[in-house]
Amino acid sequence: MSTYIVEGGRPLEGSVRVHGAKNSVLPILAACLLAPGECVIHNCPELSDVRASLDILRRLGCRAERQGEAVVVDASAPTGWEVPDALMREMRSSVIFLGAILGRMGQAQLCAPGGCELGPRPIDLHLAAIRALGGAVEEAEGGLRCSGRLRGADIVLSLPSVGATENAMLAAVSAHGDTTITNAAREPEIVDLQNFLNTLGADVRGAGSSVITVRGGAPLHGGEYTVMGDRIVAATYLAAAASAGGEVELTGVDWRHLSTVTAVLREAGCAVESRAASIRLGCRGPLRGVPPVRTAPYPGFPTDAQAPLMAVMARSSGCTVFVENIFESRYRHVDELTRMGADIRVEGRVAVVYGVPRLHGAKVQAADLRGGAALVVAALGAEGRTAVSGVRHIDRGYQSLEGDLSALGASIRRI
Ligand code: EPZ
Repeated sequence: MSTYIVEGGRPLEGSVRVHGAKNSVLPILAACLLAPGECVIHNCPELSDVRASLDILRRLGCRAERQGEAVVVDASAPTGWEVPDALMREMRSSVIFLGAILGRMGQAQLCAPGGCELGPRPIDLHLAAIRALGGAVEEAEGGLRCSGRLRGADIVLSLPSVGATENAMLAAVSAHGDTTITNAAREPEIVDLQNFLNTLGADVRGAGSSVITVRGGAPLHGGEYTVMGDRIVAATYLAAAASAGGEVELTGVDWRHLSTVTAVLREAGCAVESRAASIRLGCRGPLRGVPPVRTAPYPGFPTDAQAPLMAVMARSSGCTVFVENIFESRYRHVDELTRMGADIRVEGRVAVVYGVPRLHGAKVQAADLRGGAALVVAALGAEGRTAVSGVRHIDRGYQSLEGDLSALGASIRRI
């Protein structure tokens, strides 16, 4: 079990390139299964979730290997349709393989992804979309078995679920006939998936809006694609600079993908400059509380940035209210921030952050990916040494948090 040791109080200075987006590359790797050929995915981050996805592709009979900053997948002749339970448990978002496996193999079997640190993670919308496309879904003993030849359908999602939208797109590409997905998620990662699928010869339109159309059944082929920058990693690094003070520049990410996050940081007193290919943030003085931060589906404030931004607001003057509208249990970092001197009260989905003038180092434990990153953000601005254990959670979504932050002047090391 790795632990980060962070010595707080050192401002951050310099420029860092943000790595490729985890939540874009995971569905794109699943999409590789649809193409009877070789796919080269550039700007693919080295993350444990990516390694788990490559393991799944290999178990399905594909060649999948890393070549530097890219991964190469060859799904010319897949042989399997079952995602091993161990891999499902390792990464619950493996459910994103369901639509692609069913579309390519005509059947799919995987264990129902359990809940996770964020609370129950139902997949009822994923299964409703598969059934709408003509897939038979049997749920038994915690497992899922799907089969059938898919045909185009009009799918209406009761809420704009990112994963359900992606599974519907991946299944619809192989379906015979046209599909519309109404109330689709509008996240930038959905647009990246659409662009990748169209590189393979598919005909998907409308991603980024609430209605996506897919003309199914077109013959697909291999392709080459570069994944977008990770907007949540970028939000985390901006939060780190706001917490520690200093001036940083981020490259490799589209500033428009995190404009709700930079708006909050500006309100708090940071100087933020967004350019075509970079974002600069300067923070020289104490921060002030901001109006309520409510998480929402894109283009609203991203739930994944809630914890890192809360870590920033913990050390500020004034009070900031957070409302977590996406996940049931996304405040597990609050107790740990409190151990560092934060004053935060949680009532259900609402967390009231009473800003304090300083935080102090402590021994804290990461319980989930973004909550763990938030503890590092807080530690950078705290007085003294903080030990953040449970770094394996952070490794799921950050290629080299300690490397990038050290390059900006932070004192952080992994033991
Ligand atoms: C994706 O999760 C991301 N993961 C999450 O990022 C992100 O927080 C989330 O979207 C919201 O933006 C990946 O892309 C791999 P949802 P996903 O389906 O697809 C409920 C991170 O930190 N729901 O949009 O699982 C669900 O319970 C991770 O990188 C149903 O009720 O999110 C939740 O309350 C964490 N039934 C809400 O919808 C369903 O069938 C949003 O979930 C599906 C979802």
